[in-house]
Parts: sequence; structure tokens; C-alpha cells
Amino acid sequence: MTSVLFVCLGNICRSPTAEAVFRARAAAAGLDVEIDSAGTGAWHVGAEPDERAQAAGLARGYDLSPIRARQVSDRDYERFDLVLAMDHDNLATMKSRAPRSSHKRIRLFLEFAPELGLNAVPDPYYGGDQGFEEVLDLIEVASDRLIAHLRS
Ligand code: 4NP
Repeated sequence: MTSVLFVCLGNICRSPTAEAVFRARAAAAGLDVEIDSAGTGAWHVGAEPDERAQAAGLARGYDLSPIRARQVSDRDYERFDLVLAMDHDNLATMKSRAPRSSHKRIRLFLEFAPELGLNAVPDPYYGGDQGFEEVLDLIEVASDRLIAHLRS
């Protein structure tokens, strides 16, 4: 079985959204995969996903409510086959903490969907509701591309 960890800064907006969207779509595709999410920062550890992320996700049928924020741990770099960063800051932080031997597992999530023409999922935390819709739009496309990649 493959395993995938989605990582952002707080683990309350982008990566829990990716966890819920990818979980739903992988299940619908019949893909057997272990899925989790985490944040590079520790400020929100134990918290539910941001209310705006939960509301935007639920409107598209994704339930983020069981997720609780946690920080990335050193074990994650061994435990997950793919550790997918939402942006370049997350990527750089993880590469600075992980052993060299794990660097090839740590990648940008949007690398799997080059047609989006974007490398990073923009941080929606300090913006308005439209930011959360954009996060979902990007994550839905990248999730389907990742599923296709894992199947091939
Ligand atoms: P996330 O968004 O990394 O997508 O979960 C953020 C959440 C919280 C903060 C920044 C980004 N913060 O600064 O508290």
C-alpha cells in the first residue's frame, strides 16, 4: 500500500483540505492508500480545521471535521512514501529537517498537475472566502492527477 502525507504551515487550512479531498477521491477510485496531513508549525496542534476550510469543503461534500492538527515529526519522513508540500516554504522547511535519504519523497503537491501552471497552493488564512474555493479547485485537480500517477 502507498502512503501519502500532505503538509502545509498550520495544518488547519490547506493540508486538511487535501487530506479530505484526496481521501474521498481515492476511495471513489478504489485506490488503497494511507493518507494523513500535518503542519510544519506547532501553533494549532490539536485544533479542528479552520471554520472557513470546513464550510467550503462541506459545500463540496468533503468532511474535514474529524481532522485534528498535528506537527510533522521526524518519523513521518520514513513512514510516508510521499510527503507533499503545499508551497515552497513548507518544502524547504521539511528538506532542512529531513535526512538526505528522505529528500526524494518530499515534493510539491502541484508537481503532479503541471496543467494548473502553479507550483504552490496559496495560503488562504489571511484572505477571504474566495481563497478557500481556489484551494479546493487546485486540490481537486491535483488529487485526481496524483491518483492517476499512483495507479500507473
Ligand atoms: P495552512 O494555513 O498552512 O494552510 O493551515 C495557515 C494556518 C495558520 C497560519 C498560517 C497559515 N497561522 O499563521 O497561524
